[in-house]
Amino acid sequence: KKVKVCSPGTSANLGPGYDIFGLALSKPYDTLEVEKTEKGIIISVEGEKAEEIPTNVDENTAGVVAKKMMEDFNIQSGIHIHINKGIKPGSGLGSSSASCAGVAFALNELFELNLSKLELVKYSSLGEAVAAGAPHADNVAPAIFGGFTLTTSYDPLEVLHIPVDIEVLVALPNIQVSTKTAREILPKEIPIKDMVNNVGKAAGMVYALYNNDLELFGRYMSKDCVVEPCRANLIDGYLEVKEKVKDLVYGITISGSGPAIITIPKKEHVIDIENIFKEVWNCPVYYTKVGLGCYVE
Ligand code: HSE
Repeated sequence: KKVKVCSPGTSANLGPGYDIFGLALSKPYDTLEVEKTEKGIIISVEGEKAEEIPTNVDENTAGVVAKKMMEDFNIQSGIHIHINKGIKPGSGLGSSSASCAGVAFALNELFELNLSKLELVKYSSLGEAVAAGAPHADNVAPAIFGGFTLTTSYDPLEVLHIPVDIEVLVALPNIQVSTKTAREILPKEIPIKDMVNNVGKAAGMVYALYNNDLELFGRYMSKDCVVEPCRANLIDGYLEVKEKVKDLVYGITISGSGPAIITIPKKEHVIDIENIFKEVWNCPVYYTKVGLGCYVE
């Protein structure tokens, strides 16, 4: 028995929603094939930077998730996980999350575990702890639920889901940013006025979604005053791009811990924005929309 799953790339934070907001993208995505075998867990990987991804179960983020689920549900048979990476690792587009969520989703199907989406998010986030040093769920939540998600509580884990239909333009500069480092450089404490700013902007973004107000959503998305200012310097050219596109987009911010940059483009300016991305970074660009969570292909 075998199941083939498609698991989407995701964009976390969206400015003021650090570790809370997440968006599932229609492109790029990973595909995973999980097959029942006699014994043990075997992992194979192809696609984007496959040679850099460990296939050892305890070091592979999807392997960690699979191992824990098989222990918890006392699954005696083995599995072969084959991952086809469409999402470049370390890109800020939830590459490890897509593999974690995909394997949790696939095991749920393959062994008919009947787990809820929230339980799948919980298992998936165990892999994030290996990748990022913290089990943040803001990428795995949209990878499972699709649409826009809010991880409103970590202990206990709670996820809220809002289906949305938004187009985004994402740039993927060829720069290395480690999520671990990008988390370590953040302040441990913040002034109360920064908290007021970010809570206000994040709350306003949810209001904007319910009112289909892209202008408001994007304007607030661009105004995180806590995390983005610390990380902007890790991405050469970002502040220059942010300035250059300011009248062409509703919003722009760093996707997850970067280096990917997510914008909500004004439709009539998509080409102009792409040209600015190409001029500064000469990098891949995805014009895509908010998409589904994991599904069986
Ligand atoms: N919320 C996480 C961070 C997402 O910004 O560190 C990482 O993709």
